[in-house]
Amino acid sequence: MDQYVIKGGKPLVGEVVIGGAKNAALGILAGAVMADEPVLIENLPDVCDVNVLLDAISGIGAIVDRIDRHTVKINGRTIKSVYVDYEYIKKIRGSYYLLGALLGKYKEAKVALPGGCNIGSRPIDQHKKGFEALGAKVKIEQGGIISAKADCLKGNHIYLDVVSVGATINIMLASCLAEETTIIENAAKEPHIVDVANFLNSMGANIKGAGTDVIRVKGVGKLHGSTYSIIPDQIEAGTFMLAAAATKGDVLVKNVIPKHLDAISAKLVEIGCEVEEFDDSVRVVANKRLGHTNVKTLPYPGFPTDMQPQITALLALSDGTSVITESIFENRFKYVAELARMGADIKVEGNMAVINGVDNLMGAAISAPDLRAGAALVLAGLVAEGYTILDQVTYIERGYELFEEKLTALGASIKKIDINDERELQKFKLQVS
Ligand code: UD1
Repeated sequence: MDQYVIKGGKPLVGEVVIGGAKNAALGILAGAVMADEPVLIENLPDVCDVNVLLDAISGIGAIVDRIDRHTVKINGRTIKSVYVDYEYIKKIRGSYYLLGALLGKYKEAKVALPGGCNIGSRPIDQHKKGFEALGAKVKIEQGGIISAKADCLKGNHIYLDVVSVGATINIMLASCLAEETTIIENAAKEPHIVDVANFLNSMGANIKGAGTDVIRVKGVGKLHGSTYSIIPDQIEAGTFMLAAAATKGDVLVKNVIPKHLDAISAKLVEIGCEVEEFDDSVRVVANKRLGHTNVKTLPYPGFPTDMQPQITALLALSDGTSVITESIFENRFKYVAELARMGADIKVEGNMAVINGVDNLMGAAISAPDLRAGAALVLAGLVAEGYTILDQVTYIERGYELFEEKLTALGASIKKIDINDERELQKFKLQVS
């Protein structure tokens, strides 16, 4: 088992290139199976969640041709099964997109219930409601399998009770091959919703309004092949911006869409960072102790819940008292106990965390409870005095490509070391001491 060993105290300086958006990739890869022609997807992030979904796609018989690390060609013409029972699929959230995609294409799908990070109850009632409104019968079967089946799918008016990224994408997927028009109201507006819609349109779908809260999907008879490049990852970019701020660094975060980062940039400016925007990059400079602020996570364009742990880590070292309100997931503060072991002063009450900024954090042996919390604990390790040893790094690898390599290139002292490799640990300590 691998762990990150981090020696804190170095400012991050330099440039980092952001990869394709994981959460867009999951919807796009599922959508790709809906054509019976080759679909070439570029700027694919090479992260575990994406690779698990690709294995599942080839497991149902589609041709998956990995051209290079960031490019894949998929052809759904050879799909033999609509039953996705791949062992690992249960561990990733994006597995449920195969339900929408296969239901749309074959009017039938069976997928093992999705997993993903344990950050709340994460119900899928809105997905179910959407599929049922299109005419499907949806059942949860023994062994945690969801099945959906329809004689024919027919467009309908669907009002989502909660703004859900997953349900919006899933209903878009299923409805683009349904008869007539589907209207999704109270739709999520995240950048990856727009990216999945643009991708499906490039395959011949007719989706309008993605990025607003009303999406209109006019069903088409079939989808064709396409070549598509995935947008940059908003959360990877935001994580490096906050890492620059936390370490009092100066980092140019390249290959981003600055508009997608507005909520994050605004908070950084508010607490005293300099944020400079260019066409496809942002530079974050912090050269003094940062101030406090309040943050409430909200659906896009609000502050992303996937950045909540990282900003908490940053504010743990800022001056004064900050309040974080988590309004999307009910169980997203598990990492606070780990930050407390490093000396942070944070009290959690329900969905709120009250942070009293401290002067410094101290390295400790800690554990990543989930993907984004893991990234936040790395940020804490980068600023802490001494060594931090973080285990459960596989969570981080689900969503960050070459995380420690990118941080090392910016000057951080971080290395992934096997938990039993005492020699490698001593070698690293010698190198950085
Ligand atoms: C997606 C992202 C995740 C991100 C989240 C919010 C992927 C693979 N994951 O997760 O990284 O944190 O969006 O931006 O893209 N809800 C229901 N019923 C449903 C569906 C959702 O009540 O059927 C609730 C959830 O419990 C949550 C809220 O709606 O409180 C938002 O969830 P949703 O946007 O669906 O998140 P995910 O798609 O799971």
